[in-house]
Amino acid sequence: MAGTRTFSIIKPDATRRNLTGKVTAMLEEAGLRVVASKRIHMTREQAEGFYAVHKERPFFGELVDFMISGPVVVQVLEGENAMQRNRDIMGATNPADAAPGTIRKELAESLEANTVHGSDSDENAAIEIAFFFNEDEIVG
Ligand code: TYD
Repeated sequence: MAGTRTFSIIKPDATRRNLTGKVTAMLEEAGLRVVASKRIHMTREQAEGFYAVHKERPFFGELVDFMISGPVVVQVLEGENAMQRNRDIMGATNPADAAPGTIRKELAESLEANTVHGSDSDENAAIEIAFFFNEDEIVG
């Protein structure tokens, strides 16, 4: 049983520090399987579209600038209860609040440069996966 799918981004702070393997290993050790992965440099339009839900928030402009400051790795993750499993291993949004052993506690630099994105619902996971991947790019 393959489980469910969620969507992940390894953010520019992590690609800059050469941590894509370390982040991926932590995801895999948490029981998630990478069934699609690509390294991209998002355009401003892509980043604004992806984060459109946050466009009225005060941090939107800086968040978009950060997300296009370097390459990212977009991934589809599969596993039992994948969305929640990924949120658990990511840790709290602000690394200062994240639990020990989580990706953000161990690796993140700051609230903005917090190493990973993960979908926050199964519905958003499906939308976010479709934003970056065609179904034939996902190999379970
Ligand atoms: P959010 O969806 O609230 O968090 P999460 O990534 O844990 O689902 O916010 C999206 C991103 O926006 C977050 O990962 C980092 C950034 N952000 C800020 O830069 N400042 C803030 O005050 C907040 C709440 C988020």
